[in-house]
Amino acid sequence: MVSNHQNSHPSCDEPASLVRTGSRDRPQGSFFGRRKGHRLRPHQNDLIAHLLPRLGFDPAGIGPSGPAALFDPPVDETRIEIGFGGGEHLVAEALAFPRTGFIGCEPYVNGMAKILVQIETHAIRNIRLFAGDASQLLACLPQASLARIDLIHPDPWPKRRHWKRRFVQDATVAAMARVLQPEGEFRFVSDIDDYCAWTLTHLARSPDFLWLAERTADWQDPWPGYTMTRYGRKAMREGRRAAYLRFRRERTTA
Ligand SMILES: C[S@@+](CC[C@H](N)C(=O)[O-])C[C@H]1O[C@@H](n2cnc3c(N)ncnc32)[C@H](O)[C@@H]1O
Repeated sequence: MVSNHQNSHPSCDEPASLVRTGSRDRPQGSFFGRRKGHRLRPHQNDLIAHLLPRLGFDPAGIGPSGPAALFDPPVDETRIEIGFGGGEHLVAEALAFPRTGFIGCEPYVNGMAKILVQIETHAIRNIRLFAGDASQLLACLPQASLARIDLIHPDPWPKRRHWKRRFVQDATVAAMARVLQPEGEFRFVSDIDDYCAWTLTHLARSPDFLWLAERTADWQDPWPGYTMTRYGRKAMREGRRAAYLRFRRERTTA
């Protein structure tokens, strides 16, 4: 299962929604989903208007000191979660690790509204939010500036003609390798067997990552402390078992 498709990935200073691809401009990058769902409640609208601007940031403004500088109080390390959906996993991690800074990346405005409610409820200080395409965020981060990247139940794009839309591509694997610290981790969860195999294939051909599984339980069971998400619960209800894949960023190449 080898991908022949290479997405055009955004550079840091180019909006992900309009990347020049040859003779014409068209939407590119790694986001192909919808940005809006049902109408937001008034309080959610209020949080989008007033709290999101305080927690959001322009990735192009991240300087050489890296994403840790976004956090006050200061943090020991920074992680990102790509496509956090309703935010269940991201919020639980932020509460469990107060000395870690978390960047949540989610273009879907209803997901953003849900996490803002939880951030307000729990008075969380160690989450910053980017309401755009994670591949643009990755392009803006300095080399070796993240301790971990989580991708949990990404959009599966099961049809062959849509495989090029999957977040995991050779280009995004290389982008993640660039921004992860040596020994940092990329963690991937999916209940779609084909996407798990796809991810293993892509990561296996990267010289930068090592799959950490030594026994079946290492990928069949969630890692300790894992918080199930909405999509994870839906998969369980429907009888699909997720795989939990952990990859370590190797020291081999720059
Ligand atoms: C299937 S949902 C899973 C949500 C959540 N992780 C969960 O497990 O419930 C996938 C999410 O990824 C987001 N997404 C898709 N492409 C993305 C991208 N390039 N950057 C950031 N988020 C993305 C979508 O908006 C969607 O909310």
